[in-house]
Amino acid sequence: MAIESHQSSRSAVLEAATAASGRNEPTARRTVGDVTTPDPVMSCRHVNVRYGEKQAIRDVNLDVAHNEVIAMIGPSGCGKSTFLRCLNRLNDTIPTAVVTGTITLDGQDIYDRRQDVVQLRARVGMVFQKPNPFPKSVYENVAYGPRIHGLAADRTQLDEIVQTSLQRAGLWEEVKDRLDDPGTALSGGQQQRLCIARTIAVSPEVILMDEPCSALDPIATARIEDLIDELRQNYAIGIVTHSMQQAARVSQRTAYFHLGDLVEVGPTDVIFTNPRHRLTEDYITGRFG
Ligand SMILES: Nc1ncnc2c1ncn2[C@@H]1O[C@H](COP(=O)(O)OP(=O)(O)O)[C@@H](O)[C@H]1O
Ligand SMILES: [Mg+2]
Repeated sequence: MAIESHQSSRSAVLEAATAASGRNEPTARRTVGDVTTPDPVMSCRHVNVRYGEKQAIRDVNLDVAHNEVIAMIGPSGCGKSTFLRCLNRLNDTIPTAVVTGTITLDGQDIYDRRQDVVQLRARVGMVFQKPNPFPKSVYENVAYGPRIHGLAADRTQLDEIVQTSLQRAGLWEEVKDRLDDPGTALSGGQQQRLCIARTIAVSPEVILMDEPCSALDPIATARIEDLIDELRQNYAIGIVTHSMQQAARVSQRTAYFHLGDLVEVGPTDVIFTNPRHRLTEDYITGRFG
C-alpha cells in the first residue's frame, strides 16, 4: 500500500505541527511518496515518540530495505536521531521517552515483551557521530560482541570473526600488525571503521549510522562513504546525515524530516532533483535549515 501524497503549504504544516505538539495520537497528515518497499527488513507504522510532554516525531511510516542505503535528512532537531533510535530501541535508555506505533524486523514486532533487547541491538547495530571504541585493544573491540553472544566456539573462530569484520570494515590492512594497541590510539577515521567492524562482528541485518562522518576529515569521510557503498551488498543501512551531498552520494532512497514529520520519501535522485513537497524543496535548495 502506498501512502499517497498531499501537498500542503509550509505554514499549514507548521500550524498543524504546533497544534499536534504535546499530543501522542497519530495525525491525518501523510508523507509524500511511497514509504513502502517490496521486501522490507524493517517496517515502521504510525511511530510516535515523545519526551515527556514534547512530541519529537509524529506518525512516521517507513520501510527499510535489504541491500539499500536510506538517508534521513532534515534540519537540526526534526527527529532524525529519535527515529533512528526507535529502530534498535535505543530510546528505551531515555527515561522520558515514550514510543508508540509498530516497528517490525523480519515481520516480528521489536517492541514485543518477549524481544531480547541485547539480541535486537546486535541485529540492528548503531554507529554514532563520535567514534566510541571501548577502552580496550583493537582486537578486543571487535571480539567483545561475538564473545558475549557466543558466536565463536574457540579462539581460532574468534580470530576469524575479528579478521573478517576488520576486512569488511576496510581496516584490516592498517591494523593487522597492531591488534593489541588500544582502539583509542587509532586515527578518528580508523576508530570509526573500528566501530563499524565491531557492529559487523555480531552479524547484523541492519546498520544504523547517525552522522557517522561529522567528526571526520574529508579523506576519512570519503573512505567511510566508499565503505557504506560496499556494505550495502550485505546489509540494510540507515544513515542520518546533515550533508545533502553525502546523502546524494551514498543513498538510494532519501527521507526528509521536518519538525517531527516525515514529509517526503523517495528515490534519492528524485528527492534532490524533483522533490514533490514544498518543504523538501525549500530545504534542498537551501531556503530552510
Ligand atoms: N533525550 C531527550 N530528551 C528530551 N528531548 C529530546 C531528547 N532528545 C531529543 N529531544 C528533542 O526531540 C526533538 C528531536 O531531536 P533529535 O531526534 O535529536 O533531532 P535531530 O537528530 O533531527 O537533530 C528535538 O526537539 C530535541 O530537542
Ligand atoms: Mg541528530
